[in-house]
Amino acid sequence: MAYETIKVETRDRVAIVTLNRPDALNALNSTVMTELIDATEGFDRDAGIGAIVITGSEKAFAAGADIKEMQSLTFVDNYLGDFIGGWDAIARTRKPKIAAVSGYALGGGCELAMLCDFIIASDTAKFGQPEITLGVIPGMGGTQRLARAVGKAKAMDLCLTGRMMDAEEAERSGLVARVVPAAELLDVAIKAAQKIASLPLPAVMMAKETVDRAFESTLSEGLRFERRVFHSLFATEDQKEGMAAFAEKRKPVFKNR
Ligand code: CAA
Repeated sequence: MAYETIKVETRDRVAIVTLNRPDALNALNSTVMTELIDATEGFDRDAGIGAIVITGSEKAFAAGADIKEMQSLTFVDNYLGDFIGGWDAIARTRKPKIAAVSGYALGGGCELAMLCDFIIASDTAKFGQPEITLGVIPGMGGTQRLARAVGKAKAMDLCLTGRMMDAEEAERSGLVARVVPAAELLDVAIKAAQKIASLPLPAVMMAKETVDRAFESTLSEGLRFERRVFHSLFATEDQKEGMAAFAEKRKPVFKNR
C-alpha cells in the first residue's frame, strides 16, 4: 500500500512510522488512521521486525483528531460508523511500540502516544487533552489511559481545563519514560527499539503482555498471570541460551524460539 499521510522505514529489526501531514500538524484524519493501522499491523506480522517507533515532526507529534473532518458528524454517524474505534487495532498490535514525541501531542495525539507501550519525549513536547474546549471529551482512551498513567488529580486537571503540560511535568507525573534533547529524540527512540528488538522476542512480547495485565486485573490475578508466564518461558530455547551464555561468560545468540 502506498501511503499519503505517513512514511515508513525499517532499520535493524526496527520499524519507524512517521506521521506526515505537516500542513495540519499531523492531525489524525481517517486516512492517517487507516494507513497507521495498515503499517503497524503489517510490521506486527513481519518476523523481521522486533519493535516499532511511532513519531511525528519536530513541531507536532499530532495535534489531535482532525477537527475539520469531524465537525459536522452527528451522533448517529459516529455510532453507526464506530468513529475512531479503529484506533483500538493499533493498541492491540503485539510487538512493542515506542512513541517518540516532539512538539504537540494533543487530544488524539496524546492518546496515540499513550496507546504505545511507552513514550520518549523531547524537551519541547507538550501533552494535553483539550477536547473539552471543543465541547467534547477524549474519545481514543484519553480519560482512561491518562488516569492510569498520571493518577486522578492530574488527569482531571488536564481533561477539565484542557491545559497543556510540558515534557518535564509529563515525566514527573509518570506519563513519559524519558525526556531527551529534541535533536536526539529519534536516535534515542530507535536505539531503545533496537535494544528491545535484539532481545528474545517471545520474552519481550510476554513481558509487554504481562505489564499490560497490571492495568486490567486485580493484583492477585496479575501476579498469578506473571508467575505462569515466567514458568512458561522456561520452555523456550532462548531461556536455555540466555542462562547458558551467562554461566559460560559469553554473549547469547537468541533465535526468537
Ligand atoms: N485538526 C485539524 N486541523 C488542525 C488541527 C486539528 N486537530 N490542529 C491543527 N490543525 C491545523 C490548523 O487548522 C492549521 O491549518 P491551516 O493552516 O489550514 O489554518 C494548521 O494545522 C496549523 O495550526 P495552527 O495555525 O493552529 O498552529 P499554531 O502553532 O498556531 O497552534 C496548536 C498549534 C496549539 C496545536 C493548535 O493548532 C491547536 O490548538 N490545534 C487543535 C488541538 C486540539 O484541540 N486537539 C484535539 C482535537 S479533538 C480530539 O483529538 C478528539 C479525540 O480525543 C479523538
